[in-house]
Amino acid sequence: MKFHNTLLALSFLSISFIPSTRAGEVEVLHWWTSGGEAKSIAVLTEMLEQQGHSWKDFAVAGGGGESAMTVLKTRAVSGNPPSAAQIKGHDIQEWAGLGFLTSLNDVAKQGGWDEVVPPMVTNVMKWNGQYVAVPVNVHRVNWLWVNPAILAKVDAKVPTTLDEFFVAGDKIKAAGYVPLAHGGQPWQDATVFETVALSVLGSQDYVKAFVELDMAVLAGDKMVDVFSQFKKVHDYIDVNSPGRDWNVATSMVINGEAAMQIMGDWAKGEFTAAGKVAGKDYLCVATPGTADQFIHNVDSFVFFELTDADNKQAQKALAATIIDPKFQEVFNLNKGSIPVRTDMNMSKFDQCALDSMAAFKATAKSNNLVPSIAHGMSTTSYAQGAIFDVVTSFFNDPKADPKQAAQKLAKAVKAAM
Ligand code: GAL
Repeated sequence: MKFHNTLLALSFLSISFIPSTRAGEVEVLHWWTSGGEAKSIAVLTEMLEQQGHSWKDFAVAGGGGESAMTVLKTRAVSGNPPSAAQIKGHDIQEWAGLGFLTSLNDVAKQGGWDEVVPPMVTNVMKWNGQYVAVPVNVHRVNWLWVNPAILAKVDAKVPTTLDEFFVAGDKIKAAGYVPLAHGGQPWQDATVFETVALSVLGSQDYVKAFVELDMAVLAGDKMVDVFSQFKKVHDYIDVNSPGRDWNVATSMVINGEAAMQIMGDWAKGEFTAAGKVAGKDYLCVATPGTADQFIHNVDSFVFFELTDADNKQAQKALAATIIDPKFQEVFNLNKGSIPVRTDMNMSKFDQCALDSMAAFKATAKSNNLVPSIAHGMSTTSYAQGAIFDVVTSFFNDPKADPKQAAQKLAKAVKAAM
């Protein structure tokens, strides 16, 4: 009887889970360790394991991925890279150019990636015409997360411009709440900076400065204004912000300690994991002055060259799973982002995701879809590092001068070109 049951169980397994090839292992480097992020990556682990392969988790904590990238470089240089890694934007080109990455063209062809993912995304995933990365999602960075109960209590309205933000911030501060939850880490400083820059510069000059690295815009009068406004924002952050993780800042908004946070929509993953409902417990609105603009951050995975045939199969299975509509739905519901496929049924997504999808499409048409500086989308890691240095030291120095900062920014970027 027992034997019969086992056979029965095995035959069920063979129907739903039997792998088409032999089982392999993938070791995956990522930095998704917060509540919402961990829930999201768990979906991928599960779907890979259902196909008979095994997942070796290589998580390196630290939002924005700086620590993960440092660890990855050490492993790669010593000739022992993992099989897959979360690498995105310009870094994809840098790693591919060094000859580390394997081509995913066969998987991409089979999955029809060119047909279901917009070219604006696929272009970044390709190197020399070959797919070397698979996109996971599209995050919008210019979001303001709002605790509506605090705003109601202090009689402040949801800010739509920087001036309105300062007015609301004063009321919130006077009532004893933290107006803006923030973590003082370079990538988080840069996240706030880029939303202020987009609002003050407009999309065209934002692109000139941070994509084309145009010295006249980087050192120009409008950039001086960007730094002046950015400095003002600092007045609304609490003294304990240095070093704070982004998800700890999000929890301050969730718990009613802080009124707002400027953060990409991975923050929504934290609200969701805490059981909070968009539009009721919290609001998602565009950061002040950027309602018709979209700063994008596309997550992706790359795959390193391997020799073991089974592990190569596991890599391909992982790449195919990432684009699979079923994974795209569950993962993005947990992660707070929108699917990278344009043919998805969005009926399970909340208002924030629907707004994000609508803004993504509209801004692509109106030339207001711009790449994130903080998340490696707009320029090389060298120029990004130079921008981070200037932005962070300015933000943390109460005496820093906006005019000098703009000049320093141009100089630092030039040296990194
Ligand atoms: C970003 C990444 C997001 C999010 C965030 C915080 O770089 O693209 O998916 O996880 O870091 O960890």
